[in-house]
Amino acid sequence: MCGIVGYIGARNTLAVLIKGLESLEYRGYDSAGVSFIQNGNLNVIKKKGKVKELYKAIDEQGYDLSLKGKNSISAGIGHTRWATHGAPSDENSHPHLSMGGKICVVHNGIIENYVELRKFLKKKGYEFSSDTDTEVAAQLIEYYYKKFDCKDFEGAVQRALQDIVGSYALCILCVDYPDKIICAKKDNPIVIGLGQNENFIASDIPALIEYTRDVVFMEDNCILIMTKDSIEIKDVHGEVVDYEVSHVDWDTDAAQKGGYAHFMMKEMFEEPKAFEATVAPRIKDDVIWLEHFPCGRDYLSGIDKINIVACGTAYHAGCVGKYLIEKLCRIPVTCTVASEFIYSDPIIDERTLTIVISQSGETLDTRNAMREAQNRGSRTLAIVNVIGSTIAREADYVLYTAAGPEISVASTKAYTTQLACVYLLAIKFSYELGKIDDDRYKQLQSELLQMPEKLTKILSEQNKIQRFASSQFNAESIFFIGRGLDYYLSMEASLKLKEISYIHSEAYAGGELKHGTIALIEDGTLVVSPITQDELCGKMESNIKEVKTRGATVLAIIPERFADKGFSCDEKFVIPDCDELLTPILTALPAQLFAYYMAVNKGCDIDKPRNLAKSVTVE
Ligand code: AGP
Repeated sequence: MCGIVGYIGARNTLAVLIKGLESLEYRGYDSAGVSFIQNGNLNVIKKKGKVKELYKAIDEQGYDLSLKGKNSISAGIGHTRWATHGAPSDENSHPHLSMGGKICVVHNGIIENYVELRKFLKKKGYEFSSDTDTEVAAQLIEYYYKKFDCKDFEGAVQRALQDIVGSYALCILCVDYPDKIICAKKDNPIVIGLGQNENFIASDIPALIEYTRDVVFMEDNCILIMTKDSIEIKDVHGEVVDYEVSHVDWDTDAAQKGGYAHFMMKEMFEEPKAFEATVAPRIKDDVIWLEHFPCGRDYLSGIDKINIVACGTAYHAGCVGKYLIEKLCRIPVTCTVASEFIYSDPIIDERTLTIVISQSGETLDTRNAMREAQNRGSRTLAIVNVIGSTIAREADYVLYTAAGPEISVASTKAYTTQLACVYLLAIKFSYELGKIDDDRYKQLQSELLQMPEKLTKILSEQNKIQRFASSQFNAESIFFIGRGLDYYLSMEASLKLKEISYIHSEAYAGGELKHGTIALIEDGTLVVSPITQDELCGKMESNIKEVKTRGATVLAIIPERFADKGFSCDEKFVIPDCDELLTPILTALPAQLFAYYMAVNKGCDIDKPRNLAKSVTVE
């Protein structure tokens, strides 16, 4: 989604803004722009297209864009826009300047009552130059600023916010206050980076870590007044509120490609390390420790059911979680797509534990689902990657995945570490409830600890997948079929392929195909089938035969112990053996590699697939 940066200090402001926007490119966007005050004027430079177009436009106007360059501008704001209201165009790009040239605004989120506000402002003589909802924020703040005799920037922002309905991270400049930036936040993230005689703003940490590790996560319904040497946060009534400074320990390398062609490739290669960092510190002396989460027998005896909510890839991790918890703990679990959950009138109460899964911790659908569950009395546990994110702060308890920053839009290491957390939870709950004995408890822990080595082995054989993909990338439609855990993995494999290679794909339960979808199988259709469950492999062989008879080419992903089983497939990719309950952790990686190489062969933009955004903060 859209990205925001802001800076005040002695560095070359335009260079800091451009660099910040580049580091947010992964979020997905279609235009970019900056605004700054110079010689008593608010300047705006914005362009449809990538940040490099913006860079060119700024350069052509004679501005120095080197980080060591001279700074003649103190405060500046910048934005990458992912179009919602109004097509991608120069006019609709942010920043938006008010008609009188007093106020300039960048915005993430949606102003829901923008039509009424626009009508109101038009009556007052304001003219609009874009189709966006955001432009009303700039005009409305200017309207109140003028009403207050152009003397109260902060008051004008506070007043305008009373009229605005919707979600926002707003970053605002006023021509009469060249040394000040004001921000407002509701339901969209703003991170403040603290420096020495300089301060930063961003919608996401990667834009800041080159300069500072000391950050403040702004709370909802607050405004920030920032100068180069001070920050002040106030609530809607103008009362100063306290804030907490967090230290981010991500290293700068984590947000660079480090020699890999794409972030996605780098992040797949980080899976063994990320998995280990998520699991190993939580297993000590044959016991699973889940930080402050009190999941002993007492806590669990207060829970009748578990409700998992998440979106996209995180939802697929949740599906595996549902299977595991039900199998290992015999507690009923529902796993629902977050955007559907909210409207499903869910049957939950204080004896329900809601597990919320999100890499970013900012996905609006997931946040809303968590709030809905909380309103109905449910307890909440979040599995989140981004430290200090909204979901992490609003849940009763949080289990962090230790994946480090995930830059590629296609989630890979975040998924594997989300699986790590659901396995830790399911195994711990099961033991605490007395459903598994000491030996099984220890054996499952030991299996988890062996996963990094097995993931490394899969990576060392990735050229087999690369070769297969280079013979198949012209496929128009691909089906993933599996049963049980392999079905949930198929759902994730299909999503990964679709989102980065744009090849149509569907995931089907092996036994369900014959109830309609098999009509789509014809000569040469590619079918990919993870087969890892002993009990189900006979049935899967029948399903493979069904599609082969109709002309399909089949790739099977199987564990070593099935290597001699003689499935009727055309190709096999063999993963290391493990307890069959844990196979999704290993089958995910070949599926991700397959999607990656199919997309590379097709020449797709791997890290920034079309129409997609890393963090989805609209409903
Ligand atoms: C993953 O490859 C996708 N880009 C997407 O489905 C993602 O998992 C989903 O939007 C949820 O994001 P979150 O984990 O940050 O909440």
